[in-house]
Amino acid sequence: MSDLKRGLSEAVEAVFAELGLPAELGRVTASDRPDLADFQSNGALAAAKRVGKNPREIATLVAERLAGDARLEAVEIAGPGFINLKLTDRSLSDRAQAIADDPRQGAEIVAQPRRVLIDFGGPNVAKPMHVGHLRASIIGEAIKRLYRFRGDSVLGDAHFGDWGYQMGLLIGAVMDERPEIARLVDSLNAGASEDTAAFGAVALTDLDRLYPQAAAKGKADTDYRDRARKITAGLQDRLPGYYALWQRFRDVTQVALERDFHALGVDFDLWKGESDVEDLIDPMVADLDAKGLLVDDQGARIIRVVREGDKRELPPLLVVSSEGSAMYGTTDLATILDRKQTFDPNLVIYCVDQRQADHFEIVFRAAYLAGYAQEGQLEHVGFGTMNGTDGKPFKTREGGVLKLNDMIEMTRVKARERLHEAGLGENLAETEFEDIASKVAVAALKFADLQNFRGTSYVFDLDRFTSFEGKTGPYLLYQAVRVKSLLRRAADEAVSSGPITVTEPAERELVLTLDAFETALSEAYDKKAPNAVAEHAYRLSQAFSKFYAACPILQAEPKVRSSRLALAQTTLAQLERALGVLGITLPERM
Ligand code: ARG
Repeated sequence: MSDLKRGLSEAVEAVFAELGLPAELGRVTASDRPDLADFQSNGALAAAKRVGKNPREIATLVAERLAGDARLEAVEIAGPGFINLKLTDRSLSDRAQAIADDPRQGAEIVAQPRRVLIDFGGPNVAKPMHVGHLRASIIGEAIKRLYRFRGDSVLGDAHFGDWGYQMGLLIGAVMDERPEIARLVDSLNAGASEDTAAFGAVALTDLDRLYPQAAAKGKADTDYRDRARKITAGLQDRLPGYYALWQRFRDVTQVALERDFHALGVDFDLWKGESDVEDLIDPMVADLDAKGLLVDDQGARIIRVVREGDKRELPPLLVVSSEGSAMYGTTDLATILDRKQTFDPNLVIYCVDQRQADHFEIVFRAAYLAGYAQEGQLEHVGFGTMNGTDGKPFKTREGGVLKLNDMIEMTRVKARERLHEAGLGENLAETEFEDIASKVAVAALKFADLQNFRGTSYVFDLDRFTSFEGKTGPYLLYQAVRVKSLLRRAADEAVSSGPITVTEPAERELVLTLDAFETALSEAYDKKAPNAVAEHAYRLSQAFSKFYAACPILQAEPKVRSSRLALAQTTLAQLERALGVLGITLPERM
């Protein structure tokens, strides 16, 4: 059964067609005046313009033909020719029942499921994560879950940054600091076979400490930089010493990152790295050469991607640097090939900071030129930044970049404080309280992000994000948990839920909101914009609050009571589902 809005749209569109008017103009939307109607169609106005008739006349003709529709209690014409539609209690009850009985809570499945790969998160070995990675993880995870829920077959890939210049910098820095490691690396590079167990002494904290120093030195000191570049090229040629040390870097980083991501409710199906496509690069370069796409440019090899009609000149794709290294764009291009060979996606979504828009435009154009993907199969889904109160990308108080783990911990501290303030979870055991605090923290961070359209930047404000009041993740958790406890009480009192019969205005409004889930999901899906689902979750919890205030549940007479209980269950199921799509998990109680 389709949602009410679509069902009514189809009916009004059919009437438009019968009247010889463009059918698509009949489309209905939620009413601007919920006190007067449930849905409206503004199509008579547009149609009147096209055929040169009076809009009210057209609206009257449409209304006459709709009058027999059993779903409608009233069809009225308002103002210059708006058609207002009011549903019967019966049809709202039927729809509510259908949602209650539906394991998908009223959500449809896409007509043609696709294979979709989502490249998101984008962490790097050693380089700490910044706010761009936080947003990439939160938004990417939501898009992954949304696409999967709509019926696509989806893989999420972290596209681990493990193969660039930063690796050369770091290998050099570790060798400078640890003579015994430097000796081992040199000896392995020279072809000796030695035990590499000593590399196990390199810890993540060493990388965190050394990387910023080395990066700064590489900027200031050209000799240092050149050496790092040479080491990078050596690593890419698989010199055994560099390679073995690099593997250690990669392993310690991945373990820590996976743990931090998981704490945020972000998980990847694939942890492929830039390095995984290394073997594809030489044959790819040969292929690009054979296709006549490579141009020599001061010792480097590039692909020009400018197109006629470009408003500004896009730089070329740097495929092989003058040192002979593969670059960020080279591994991205080879990864397109790799994904085609292993998964053959219909669509690849790159959920990456908007500041990389040009990079992706260049890589995509090169891929289309080389025939590695078809135009439109690669899509960069960018987003704005999370800013500090100074309006610049958020930094820690010390001015450094944020570590994911620190950010989660900081939010958890605040969440505990908030729970205490609100007197929540007081009587629970320590472990359960901690679990709740984690869930509140994740809900706070994710909902604060996902309630904005992804292109919009927003200000990091932990006090507001963690508040149990207002449009926040914790507020939604609290509302949902309240419904859970209501259902528990009903179960204790052996009250059973039953057929849904809608009569009260607050019940009608709740059902109309439940019905709007499908619209929110399909909008979010089409625009890659999870904020539509976040908005729906918020509206649903507000509609429930109103209903709960206006319609007593457990005190009502038995038939009404079981209907209202069923409505509460259905609301909870849909709210939990919507939050699940956003990557937010509910506690049992608070
Ligand atoms: N590691 C990159 C960075 O930190 C992000 C990777 C995004 N994905 C990609 N296929 N390039 O900026």
